[in-house]
Amino acid sequence: MTWHVAIKQSKLKPGKKKMITVAKKLVLIGQTDDAYFATEALCRHMRWPLAYGAKVKDDCIRCPLHQTTHNLKDGSLIEWSPFPLLPLYGKIVGKFSKKKDLKIYDTRVAEGKIEINIF
Ligand code: FES
Repeated sequence: MTWHVAIKQSKLKPGKKKMITVAKKLVLIGQTDDAYFATEALCRHMRWPLAYGAKVKDDCIRCPLHQTTHNLKDGSLIEWSPFPLLPLYGKIVGKFSKKKDLKIYDTRVAEGKIEINIF
C-alpha cells in the first residue's frame, strides 16, 4: 500500500473528473458531492476513457459509449453494455469482452493535495 500525490485539491472542481497518470497508472479522479473518488481510467468494456463523458450519479459511474455502469464504492459491475437497446447492438458488443469490475483506489487529502492509494 503506497499513497501517491495525484493532484492539488484546487485543480479539481466539484463535479469534474480528470484523467491523470499516477505511479505509472492511468487513473480517473473526480469529486462527488462530498467525497473524492479514483478509478482506473478506461472503461472495462472497450477501454473508453471515462474522463470523456462518463456520468457520475448515485455512487455509480456510467460510460457514455455503451452505458456500462459500475459502483464507485467498490467497483462492482451494475450493468454491462446495455446501449443501444434497439437494435440489440449493445448486447452484441457486450459479448466482445468479458464482464469485469472496475478497479477503485482509496483517496485521502493531505496538505491540500489528493492522494491515491495504489498497490
Ligand atoms: S466502452 Fe464503455 S460501455 Fe462500451
